[in-house]
Amino acid sequence: MKFEKIQAPKGVREYLPPESQSFEWVREQLIVPAKNAGYQLMELPVFEDTNLFSRGVGESTDVVSKEMYTFEDRGGRSITLRPEGTAGVMRAVIEQNLDRGQLPVKVWYSGQFFRAERPQAGRYRQFYQVGIEAIGTEDPALDAEVIAIADRGFKNLGLKNYRLEITSLGDAQSRAAHRVDLLSYITTLDLDEATAARAQINPLRLFDDKRPDMQAAMAKAPLLLDYLSPESAANFAAVQKYLTAMGIAFNINPRMVRGLDYYTGTTFEFVHPDLGAQSGIGGGGRYDGLMETLGGQSLSGIGFGLGVDRALLAAIAESTVPSQEFTSDLFIIPLGEGAKEQTLVMASQLRSVGIQTEIAFGDRALKGAMKAADKSGARFVIVLGESELKEGAVELKRMSDGVTTSVKIDQLQEELQRALSL
Ligand code: HAM
Repeated sequence: MKFEKIQAPKGVREYLPPESQSFEWVREQLIVPAKNAGYQLMELPVFEDTNLFSRGVGESTDVVSKEMYTFEDRGGRSITLRPEGTAGVMRAVIEQNLDRGQLPVKVWYSGQFFRAERPQAGRYRQFYQVGIEAIGTEDPALDAEVIAIADRGFKNLGLKNYRLEITSLGDAQSRAAHRVDLLSYITTLDLDEATAARAQINPLRLFDDKRPDMQAAMAKAPLLLDYLSPESAANFAAVQKYLTAMGIAFNINPRMVRGLDYYTGTTFEFVHPDLGAQSGIGGGGRYDGLMETLGGQSLSGIGFGLGVDRALLAAIAESTVPSQEFTSDLFIIPLGEGAKEQTLVMASQLRSVGIQTEIAFGDRALKGAMKAADKSGARFVIVLGESELKEGAVELKRMSDGVTTSVKIDQLQEELQRALSL
């Protein structure tokens, strides 16, 4: 009987060797700046109570209304695969009372997120983010720090062609004043039912409508930046001043609308022009009401999510991915049963002191095993057979130039450590 092959689900991106090394490199470069700024890891579930996202992220968003992977678990609970990370962090902060301790709570996370979007280059149904959240402190210097951490991550990748767009959604007072005028502007437009319904929940969404007629219709709409309260305006000016002081270039984009409803105050996006339609490589902002909406106290937070998949595409586009062929330090070829046991013992000892050691398995003939050693890119190779065991010495072959040295087995570790540190 022949079984049919099974394929990966539509729209998922997977990283296999050797490309997985580049993926890992990108993820690490994006995490390092957060660690350097004192953010600590938060490892959270990939599924949560559906209410967390419908309440936290907002019903007017595509993410909640169209893209969630929601299912009923065996206990009849409605569960959703996390489409983003901020709501889960906030849930955990509230549940574990982290907001009763030292503020701001500063955490980073990385992992898979899920959105049932139409798959295309750079847009996947399972994608990876590195994110940070700083919760409990309102200070424009913190806003600037969060942006600087994201920017440092992209700089670590060697990226140069991206741009940073920022805006401010102001405080509640600013948004209320703008909303009145925006809604009255919107009543002059001829909207279909679904769009009108969205506008009622969050009229700012209409700025994000990609249809040309909607873009034209919104061209003269009042902009929130013109409605900032004196405090919000001063805050936004301070963020810009700090960014400038740190040498971080930005454009102010008053029409920027983030895809999630919890944003207030400073919001930002990093855009890479070489990625086509899916040009957002990272984004974030402040969220004043989220904690309260999720049943906690009223504390503000700010954070970002960086798209690891897209950052990798950007690094490939700018040719900044280091060529890093996987290499181990030593490749051991055992000949015969006695040697095999000795090889396992030797390899585990060498690995315990950090020497990366591979073994040729499967009792291959010497010629085939040598080919495998060559392919592995290992820096040194030894053959361990009966005669080597009897003499207590092996020929250590340096693969870069083929030079061999006779080394006593009990001195192999020191010899390798010396040779590898050269
Ligand atoms: P977001 O803008 O929805 O924000 O996502 C952040 C980044 O994730 C995007 O800029 C993009 O690079 C990547 N991304 C999003 N969707 C996809 C997809 N379908 N395929 C590939 N990459 C994708 C958030 O998620 C917020 N939680 C960020 C945040 C944290 N705001 C405050 N704190």
